[in-house]
Amino acid sequence: MRAVEWVDDHLRLLDQTKIPHQIEFIEVLKVDQLVDAIVSLAVRGAPALGAAGAYGVVTALDQGKKENWSEKEIEEQILKIRNARPTAVNLAWGVDQAHKLISQGRDQVLKLAHKISQEDEDGNKKMGKFGADWILKKLNKQKINVLTHCNTGMLATTEWGTAFGVIRELHSRGNIEMVYADETRPLLQGSRLTAWELVQNKIPHLVLADGAAASTILRKKVDVALIGADRIAANADTANKIGSLSVALACYEAKIPFLVVAPESTIDLSTKSGDSIEIELRNDSEILEFNGKRVAPLESRGYNPAFDVTPAKYISAIVTELGVIEVSKGETPEKRK
Ligand code: MRU
Repeated sequence: MRAVEWVDDHLRLLDQTKIPHQIEFIEVLKVDQLVDAIVSLAVRGAPALGAAGAYGVVTALDQGKKENWSEKEIEEQILKIRNARPTAVNLAWGVDQAHKLISQGRDQVLKLAHKISQEDEDGNKKMGKFGADWILKKLNKQKINVLTHCNTGMLATTEWGTAFGVIRELHSRGNIEMVYADETRPLLQGSRLTAWELVQNKIPHLVLADGAAASTILRKKVDVALIGADRIAANADTANKIGSLSVALACYEAKIPFLVVAPESTIDLSTKSGDSIEIELRNDSEILEFNGKRVAPLESRGYNPAFDVTPAKYISAIVTELGVIEVSKGETPEKRK
């Protein structure tokens, strides 16, 4: 099972709004279906969005052919996919990679999308090994307690996972004592998706409220925190799911490593620092309601940023498929290149 997959002649998405209770797929035949899936988080997670964006260009070309769109209409539809969510750079990256190949024909674009998907999977496995090696060397400990935030597993990628991939690697080596999975308010990517993946992989875990993370870290129950990323700036500032910064601050205070695990496609050298990363503001109903039921007074308005930015100062290292960037030793993506 894959979150993002090309089946026969179309894109198929695992509907992540239904997990863990139902396994349902969305058969994407039109651009609007893909845009809706991205906005509703039926497909989500930066690397999965990158692959979906690339396949989405093929969807636009196929729909355009069926419906006799002009070149301008095709361009507009592709732009709709690119702009469906602003923070994860991988979405724009995937669309742009595919867009460059349009002049070579639809089949070349599809081939490229498959390549992006396969390279994501291969890269994730490398990150898993790099991350696990780094942690075991650093902590010099056999049984490790990990805290993670949001979902970074096979659902958020094309297979395996980024931060979750490191957890899988550690588990396969017999090094996981416990995984603390933040529930990840407001859309519960932790309690719905990460917990589901932890169950699938038979990894011992506890789901905790986001607000419990800092005290759990300061009470020394956690050895290392691992998160994914939606955009990493040239100076290593990192945007990720709202609540990641609180975890980083607690790790800094507790003097334990805070690691970002992400593919190279998440590094955006054109963004110099986190200050210029656009943070997606989502509908306040996600905060004011719970499970579709209003909980806040009708008079209240909500504030719902979907991401935060962790300054480089609080990041120990960034793990990509090319190796480890030791941010706490002054390395950054920009200086490395
Ligand atoms: O809003 P989401 O669920 O798309 O946010 C996802 C995250 O913040 C992930 O941590 C990030 O995309 C990395 S996924 C490997």
